[in-house]
Amino acid sequence: MMFETIALILAAIHFSIPLAYYCYAKTEWLPKAWNIKFSNKYRPKVTIIVPTHNEADIIEKRLENIYRLDYPREKIEVIVVDDASSDRTPDIVEKWTRQHRDIKVKVIKEPVRGGKLRAVIKALKQVNSEITVFTDADAFWSSDSLRNAVKYFADPHVGAVTACMKYAGGTIENCYRSYFNLIRVAESKFHSTPIHNGPFMAVRTEIIREIGLPIFPGSDDSCFGSYIAFAGYRAIQADDVIVEEVVRGSVKRKIRRALRLLINFKKTKNYAKDRKIYVKTSFEKIWKIEQYLHLVNPWILIMSILMLLVAALSGSIISLISVTLGVLLLPIKVYRIWILQQLYLVLAAIKNLWTKEVIWSK
Ligand code: GDD
Ligand code: MN
Repeated sequence: MMFETIALILAAIHFSIPLAYYCYAKTEWLPKAWNIKFSNKYRPKVTIIVPTHNEADIIEKRLENIYRLDYPREKIEVIVVDDASSDRTPDIVEKWTRQHRDIKVKVIKEPVRGGKLRAVIKALKQVNSEITVFTDADAFWSSDSLRNAVKYFADPHVGAVTACMKYAGGTIENCYRSYFNLIRVAESKFHSTPIHNGPFMAVRTEIIREIGLPIFPGSDDSCFGSYIAFAGYRAIQADDVIVEEVVRGSVKRKIRRALRLLINFKKTKNYAKDRKIYVKTSFEKIWKIEQYLHLVNPWILIMSILMLLVAALSGSIISLISVTLGVLLLPIKVYRIWILQQLYLVLAAIKNLWTKEVIWSK
């Protein structure tokens, strides 16, 4: 009896904490004003960094997407940093560039594959624009995304802006459609979000010149954003910056993404402290809860499930009913996505014992 009670309490903790956080963020933070001095007239120079490895089938579309942005073309520079593609990726970029002389495109060709992080850090050395945006070859930005993102940077307190994500083919009129986007935007209104999306990560170049960026295995996207927030700047997910991504290699990719989140929550804060750039702000509150949700909460679910299974096998009716209910609820989409995400986090934690996936296959 004691055993099943503990199992059920664990399950209650697992579900109630994120639910309470969601409700709190939605009612307390989301309705808030941004408390950022925007300017729709601010038009800084922007460098877009696109790391590539074997992207021949998509890179031209990516360049076209950038070319069609609603932003002064002479203020855009693109750096494609290609790591040892065995297909024609760099040739395609060079040919496209010759056909589009009105936009500046540089190609850096690395003879050996060293991973995305090393590539973007290398490209960063050549940036002299006010804003640097990291992106992926398979990301597609809505035409107003860059213009909308840049307006937040008119306020010197803003250090990073990431986008709301949608999958290709799906529609979001406003980005609150998905649970995760809502939380990220709500956190951003309060201060900053610790989770940033690689397909669109804009940063203020001057800041990263001063404080650097976290460079350890697995430290791209979210770690960059969190690090900038720890330095005291706002690192936000904006609700009017929408980016679409193509889904490739889904389960493996989700575990890799979960792994990036774990690495972020394990390392970035200490890294910021070691680098002596850490400033205490209200971001700390968000960090603590998100850190708990990523590093601890998934394991509480696993423990609860294991305990309930053991109890059910030894004849506990309540445990059997609970486990059955847990399975029967799976057709409900939010619940299913949640449970899967917990599994990805647990699998990622296990995978983290032997790899950080610095290099991955699609
Ligand atoms: N230069 C270079 N070198 N680029 C690479 C390498 C490499 O070794 N490996 C991958 N890339 C490029 C890809 O060509 C693509 O443009 C981008 O990095 C992202 O790689 P994907 O293969 O599309 O991976 P993803 O969809 O899972 O990416 C997401 O997760 C990554 C971390 O796991 C995004 O959020 C990425 O931004 C993030 O880095
Ligand atoms: Mn991708």
